[in-house]
Amino acid sequence: MHSQEQIEGWKKVTKAVHAKGSIIFAQLWHVGRVSHTSLQPDSDAPVAPSAIRADTVKVFIETGPGEGELALPSEPRALSTAEVKELVQLYAQAARNALDAGFDGVELHCANGYLVNQFISEHTNHRDDEYGGSLMNRLRFLKEIVAAVSEVVGSDRLGVRFAPLFESTDEERVYLGLVERDPHSTYIEAIKVLNEAGITYLSLAEADWDHAPDLPEDFYQEVRALFNGRIMYAGRYSVEKARRVLEQGHGDIFGFGRPFIANPDLPERIRNDWPLNVIDSATLYGGTDKGYTDYLAYQP
Ligand SMILES: Cc1cc2nc3c(=O)[nH]c(=O)nc-3n(C[C@H](O)[C@H](O)[C@H](O)COP(=O)(O)O)c2cc1C
Repeated sequence: MHSQEQIEGWKKVTKAVHAKGSIIFAQLWHVGRVSHTSLQPDSDAPVAPSAIRADTVKVFIETGPGEGELALPSEPRALSTAEVKELVQLYAQAARNALDAGFDGVELHCANGYLVNQFISEHTNHRDDEYGGSLMNRLRFLKEIVAAVSEVVGSDRLGVRFAPLFESTDEERVYLGLVERDPHSTYIEAIKVLNEAGITYLSLAEADWDHAPDLPEDFYQEVRALFNGRIMYAGRYSVEKARRVLEQGHGDIFGFGRPFIANPDLPERIRNDWPLNVIDSATLYGGTDKGYTDYLAYQP
């Protein structure tokens, strides 16, 4: 969401979505340390709260035109305090660009071990300025980007996504949310920041791999009690699970990721109880139309 060319490109997408009577939010995503020198301007180090390398995730790098491979992220360099403040302004500019491109609102990606999550986490933030140390300091970057973007789009058009992880038996998964020493207090305090800012929805990404742990019941309940906006859950949800969590009163909206990729007509299939296409995970992150635009709608 940087250049005029990108804004013009996204206008085609938002127009097509509006023509079908739907709405579309832009998710603003900064990967922070989950990057590689070959992807950075002037082959510089990626930037992060602290110079701590991500070692349980791989990044996709280009090895030639149209070709690439997975590589370990490069060691990041720590942002200066002035650079953190500049980044807050960059988020505001990206939000302005999103509105220019016709998006109805903006979501801040604060999940899955990317930049904002790196500021929140005690594992990746060892700063000694006002953006590090205490939990309140580690939440400062979140608070500032929420305020700056709210000013541009309005808090009623702003959502935030977190991925609170409470346990992980699988080291490989830790990058997805970074398991804090006290995840409950960390995320309850973070959600208080969002509630005070009056954002319109909170999106909570749950663990989404096979046999992943559910969020603790008391966490679901406390989130509902303290957050006044809409709450969205996603992460290996079935229609049955969505119904159950809705009936329990924990959530208002449920997100489907992979089922939507494999089923272009997912709402109709759910409404009519039609069977679902099975996802081909080999083509999930591919660069062609295969597995992207070639899943068929249901033929009754
Ligand atoms: C190909 C692919 C790309 C994704 N990209 C993003 C993304 O850009 N931002 C994000 O917040 N989540 C992203 N996710 C995670 C999904 O939003 C969702 O949380 C996850 O797929 C679990 O839901 P599911 O079990 O219904 O697929 C992505 C998932 C997949 C499979």
